[in-house]
Amino acid sequence: MENLINKKIIGKTENNIDVLSYTIKNKNGMELEVLNYGGIIKSILVPEPDNNNLIDVVLGFDNIQGYEQDDCYIGSIVGRVANRIAKGKFILNDKHYDLALNNGNNHLHGGIEGFNKKIWDIDILNNNTIKLEYLSKDGEEGYPGNLDISVTYSLSDENEVIIVYNATTDKDTIINLTNHSYFNLDGIKEDSTIEDHILNILSNKITESDEEGISTGNLLDIMNTPLDFSKEKRIGEHIEDDFKQLRDKNGYDHNYVLNYDTHTNIVAKTKSLKTGITLSVYTNQRGVQLYTGNYLEGTGKNNNIYKKYSGFCLETQNFPNAINILEFDSGILEKGELYNHKTIYKFN
Ligand code: BGC
Repeated sequence: MENLINKKIIGKTENNIDVLSYTIKNKNGMELEVLNYGGIIKSILVPEPDNNNLIDVVLGFDNIQGYEQDDCYIGSIVGRVANRIAKGKFILNDKHYDLALNNGNNHLHGGIEGFNKKIWDIDILNNNTIKLEYLSKDGEEGYPGNLDISVTYSLSDENEVIIVYNATTDKDTIINLTNHSYFNLDGIKEDSTIEDHILNILSNKITESDEEGISTGNLLDIMNTPLDFSKEKRIGEHIEDDFKQLRDKNGYDHNYVLNYDTHTNIVAKTKSLKTGITLSVYTNQRGVQLYTGNYLEGTGKNNNIYKKYSGFCLETQNFPNAINILEFDSGILEKGELYNHKTIYKFN
């Protein structure tokens, strides 16, 4: 069969390393573009239901310098552990570890140079799948164990972006990988925000977090509060409410507790009333972080200005700070064990 994956060099990093882009197309004309830098999803072009115009539904940059300067993790693979670890400290097998602190007193998204800034090896597996690999060395950002990671991105003819994360380690470690794409199903145009998107998250609890965004261990019932998306609601409906959990975070930045049973279940649905494009999220993870781009700023693709609420993330993952909370699944990956995370972003 004809190979539909297009590979090209799109520039060089400041260290003079070639940045490669891989574009997968499906039979509906949909396209997924991924970079070897950060494993970044650079674009997802989705046909508009009414007229088949291709709409780019994710934020990003035209050139590699944009990604190198970005500190919002736009489109990237996040790890070794996504989200915050309190004070960057944890104990594993009676040993104390101190991770790099890059978010005030805490560790966020893998540290000072997380997986989002690494060069990944990429292989084309077949005409709709690429495989990215990265070896995170023992001690990187303070984590124990050489961690061998592979991430596959596939684009199916059912308009699904399928991401499978696998990893093994030679020493017990902790892991929590996710993807940090910011979606805007209206297509990114100047001044467009995601406040008019309709969102439904199949959850009635969040993992409560304090003012620094650190999980307290409490599972907070959010039914009938501004955080409740268990019934379809405009994202913007309550986003500016004077509600402590929202004001602490400057918008939505909360980990929703999912119905967990190891299958790849549907967890969220969202749609744009402007384009009619819909996105459904499926995962085998315990939580999903809804983040509404509360600190976005700067210039992105096509000179569009990114600002607060230009895009939103649905980051499927284990509960934040899990290693430090007895009641949570610790996120420990033992030597010889296989980490397996699958998430599907299905459009229209
Ligand atoms: C986190 C936010 C953080 C952002 C950085 C999100 O995944 O939940 O707290 O500010 O990433 O871009």
